[in-house]
Amino acid sequence: MALRFEILGRFNRARAAQLTLPHFVCQTPLFMPVGTQGTIKGLATNQLEEIGCQIILGNTYHLALRPTSELIDELGGLHQFMNWPRALLTDSGGFQMVSLLHLADITEKGVTFQSPVDGKPMLLTPEESIQIQNRIGADIIMALDDVVKTTITGPRIEEAMYRTLRWIDRCIAAHKRPHEQNLFGIVQGGLDPVLRDICVRGLVDRNLPGYAIGGLAGGESKDSFWRVVAQCTAALPEDKPRYVMGVGYPLDIVVCSALGADMYDCVYPTRTARFGTALVPEGVLKLKHNAMADDTRPIDPTCACMVCRTYSRAYIHCLVTKDAMGSQLLSYHNLYYMMKLSRDLHMSIIEGRFPEFVCNFLRIMFPKGD
Ligand code: GUN
Ligand code: ZN
Repeated sequence: MALRFEILGRFNRARAAQLTLPHFVCQTPLFMPVGTQGTIKGLATNQLEEIGCQIILGNTYHLALRPTSELIDELGGLHQFMNWPRALLTDSGGFQMVSLLHLADITEKGVTFQSPVDGKPMLLTPEESIQIQNRIGADIIMALDDVVKTTITGPRIEEAMYRTLRWIDRCIAAHKRPHEQNLFGIVQGGLDPVLRDICVRGLVDRNLPGYAIGGLAGGESKDSFWRVVAQCTAALPEDKPRYVMGVGYPLDIVVCSALGADMYDCVYPTRTARFGTALVPEGVLKLKHNAMADDTRPIDPTCACMVCRTYSRAYIHCLVTKDAMGSQLLSYHNLYYMMKLSRDLHMSIIEGRFPEFVCNFLRIMFPKGD
């Protein structure tokens, strides 16, 4: 195991912890921005440090295609290649292929897909995913899982869950750097509590350094999503980090943290920035809106970030459709907002005022109580 997870405070099921990884000591709950190709679009690594990012996510599938894991390995690993001194996590690739390429086909061997480079069929096996992630060198690597949308029903959900369990043993056997990199298993099983329970127990038996809850935020209701998280966190070990994959919205992070989850990742804050939307305590602020054209206030008067201290809504409105700087400034602010939310959750749990924090968060976001 290449991590230490110390719980510093609790409030009911919520926990605030210190997660010590090979490249950084992180405070949880934490949000991980997604840097698909070894970059968070539009932001330099020194800005990410300034914003307070502790760990960022890369995708095995994208990095393996370009610049290739062999080249990253040759150049000293992804930390050195992208000049990011803090922690990194790579996702295993299966989910990206299934969600991006509708041509992907899953068999017991692995995920078959058409190469976007030359159209040739390619196969990503659990062994290969781990080998690639060992070369990339992230602090946390993810097992290859069989992901199905939560909105489908029938035997495919069960098949994917059992296959994910069979693949975890192939991933464990292929992992050559357990003292430098932490392999997390991923709980699948759709919205079925029986399948989720079998999957949690199967993974916990493997005594992994951490566990992820996968297959969520794919179109199911919030009620179904939160129920799965509540069930899985209750069954996962207390002393290991719990990561809810692909989650995202500030509200979901607050709710899942109350349910005992510790880590999150999502493209939402940076993607929505590129569409001209800022995250603010009230919800969202659309900078493209005509009302912003002569608004001299900062994006969020309560935000201490560089963008809010420097620029007006009017200026960002003017940039947002015309210059890359518009989306860069919004990405900066949105990630700052997510980091501040993570810190606020951590501190409020430690200081015993988590319920007050959550009530205040909800009151500002839903002032009419709806
Ligand atoms: N990203 C969001 N959801 C998932 C998931 O279920 N599995 C993997 N590997 N990545 C994800
Ligand atoms: Zn700001």
